[in-house]
Amino acid sequence: MNIADSPDMQPRLMKALRAHARGGPEQLVYEDAPLPPPPTGSDVCARVTAAAVTFDELTWPETWESDGVDRTPIIPSHEFAGVVFAVGPDVHDYSIGDQVFGLVPFDQDGAAAEVVRLPAANLARKPANVSDVVAAAAVLPALTAMEAVEEHLRLESGQRLLIRGGTGAVGSFLIQFAHRAGIAVTAIVRSRDAVEVVERLGAREVLVGDEPDEVAPASFDASIDSVGAGTPEWLYRAVRPRGRVITLQEAPDAALAEAFDVDAQFFVVSPDAEHLDRLAALLSDGGIEVAVAQTYPLSEGRAAYTDRGRAGRLGKTVLEVPTSSE
Ligand SMILES: NC(=O)c1ccc[n+]([C@@H]2O[C@H](COP(=O)([O-])OP(=O)(O)OC[C@H]3O[C@@H](n4cnc5c(N)ncnc54)[C@H](OP(=O)(O)O)[C@@H]3O)[C@@H](O)[C@H]2O)c1
Repeated sequence: MNIADSPDMQPRLMKALRAHARGGPEQLVYEDAPLPPPPTGSDVCARVTAAAVTFDELTWPETWESDGVDRTPIIPSHEFAGVVFAVGPDVHDYSIGDQVFGLVPFDQDGAAAEVVRLPAANLARKPANVSDVVAAAAVLPALTAMEAVEEHLRLESGQRLLIRGGTGAVGSFLIQFAHRAGIAVTAIVRSRDAVEVVERLGAREVLVGDEPDEVAPASFDASIDSVGAGTPEWLYRAVRPRGRVITLQEAPDAALAEAFDVDAQFFVVSPDAEHLDRLAALLSDGGIEVAVAQTYPLSEGRAAYTDRGRAGRLGKTVLEVPTSSE
């Protein structure tokens, strides 16, 4: 037998959702892909059970390149729950069989696959009373909101925060973390149907519409755009001089920041073990509400991205990943 025909020389395959060329959901195919290489150093490999979708991730540069180098074919979804099945020699905190959840670095292959490889530092133990779908749904938007409130918005209890996109995944956690910190939250939503739920999450005031008339100039200490690109002028204008404007999809508009004398910043969430552990505790004791709009099997991953939350329900879209034997 030729050595290349030996079973040991065959690439070991898994099912994955991949894109072979840049674009939107139309590029995604469910197919066989090589398993990630066995973990070295402080990396782990986990069998994915649930992987959540951020629709805009297909527009992030890191999804398609690492240090400027094209890395197609790519696997999307960087927020997941699963079970550790291999650990690198420098991993001491996790063992095979541990139930975990975490964030995959954005410039590496993601979790829309049967197996994902990532640094152990990007993981936390998933509490036994939290479902895999809920843990996967929470990890990226909740960490983003936690870091925004605790590190970037620079607000104190009693100060006023304007959130654009109160019904979104990040927006709904921003309301909850800001409310817990005693910040007076005004949330903007597009539909009257969303008002009650956003109030329940902790918004003191809810404005409805794409550009609500009620937003007075310089009436907030900070604002944050949790909708996406193209932060509108009125979100800068709403903030008092030297207050903060945070964008999450792209760098802020320097001319608008200067015109309204605000300190505008963009940041990207960074996995932090202490934050992840705190999130695990909050999920376990029910201290935070996690909305899941819809689940899809991994094999229908393209439809999950294409539908873009068409269910019209608050919360994340999550891919469920069956084990190979299921
Ligand atoms: N920088 C970071 O670290 C980081 C981390 C995570 C996410 N992000 C970015 O944050 C943004 C939000 O992500 P996500 O996961 O929260 O997305 P998402 O769940 O799709 O939420 C976006 C929300 O925006 C709402 N919306 C759309 N247009 C609106 C408008 N004109 N006024 C008010 N609300 C409007 C939508 O509401 P409807 O329900 O009415 O459609 C939707 O709920 C994305 O751009 C994502 O790339 C950045």
